[in-house]
Amino acid sequence: MEQDFLPINGTDHIEFWVGNAKQSAMFYMAALGFELIAYAGPETGQRDRASYVLQQNKLRFILTSSLQPDTEIANHVYKHGDGVKVLALWVDDAEKSFKETTSRGAEAAMPPERLKDEHGEVVVSAIKTYGETIHKFVERKNYKGAFMPGYVAKKSSYPVKPIGLKYVDHCVGNVELGQMNKWVQFYEDVMGFKLLITFDDKDISTKYTALMSKVVSNGNGYVKFPINEPAAGVKKSQIEEYLDFYKGAGVQHIAIATDDIVQTVSEMRDRGIEFLYVPETYYEDLFERVGEIEEDLQPLKNMNILVDRDEEGYLLQIFTKPVQDRPTLFFEIIQRKGAKSFGKGNFKALFEAIEREQELRGNL
Ligand code: FE2
Repeated sequence: MEQDFLPINGTDHIEFWVGNAKQSAMFYMAALGFELIAYAGPETGQRDRASYVLQQNKLRFILTSSLQPDTEIANHVYKHGDGVKVLALWVDDAEKSFKETTSRGAEAAMPPERLKDEHGEVVVSAIKTYGETIHKFVERKNYKGAFMPGYVAKKSSYPVKPIGLKYVDHCVGNVELGQMNKWVQFYEDVMGFKLLITFDDKDISTKYTALMSKVVSNGNGYVKFPINEPAAGVKKSQIEEYLDFYKGAGVQHIAIATDDIVQTVSEMRDRGIEFLYVPETYYEDLFERVGEIEEDLQPLKNMNILVDRDEEGYLLQIFTKPVQDRPTLFFEIIQRKGAKSFGKGNFKALFEAIEREQELRGNL
């Protein structure tokens, strides 16, 4: 077996650049059950930005906003709105990760840097991917602190109630028409990922819109990045709508794993999170389509949770509406029961649901 030149232990964190990190942090705590674990800002010597580090099980999100008008962060938010800036990967050697990828053609975003404080050392480096998104490599084997040097441990007085979100299952990027293969090749050549699945417009098309998608995965399968591009349809595809509002390529959705989707989604609904809905008819022939499942039908139907099956098992999934005013980033909640796929059988029902929303926004 060939050597994996870029071993990755999993997702380290995802950093969002947002207009108001303080208020966004409240959303992730109150509605999604994240706990505040660390902070960086003026009080910690960070003059130009404020960052809130939130955690739930293995999931770590950072919300960052600029304190000044003419910074990289402020310009990013001006152009893209709130969105994902950093998909950070947990590695054992951030320097080697940087060398291996840049020597294969990756554009550097940040040369390796050793950050130290009284809790030890973290090494970070970063390369550019689609749009203005970057991959940070984070090496933290010699670190015992709350997050990393530059941040102080911080708890919130808000009484957080976790909702069972476990880890990042996959992260999807939308890229411009004709760019999907280029980015698939980037992940193959530069990061040593393998092409896992291809969906063409026959798999993913409705009366109006179509898209194409390819999924790449790293060696151990812990990191999966589906890449979408728009395909020609009668009306504007949801990918084009995203590109129009994000002003280019970027992260479309983050799929988060749970062990109990009914419980997780019912908490999210109680806390005001809005989900896409599929018509009742979706559930009429559910068992014919997916066979026997362990869950009761009624709660799935009540909460609009979707089911799909592949050769290895089945999965349950649901998609939120966009989580900011621009129709850009949204979340998927997924519970895998053996299935390793992405819910292809739900694509059609789902895209029709998205189109109903696009229609309401006047973008179809
Ligand atoms: Fe997904």
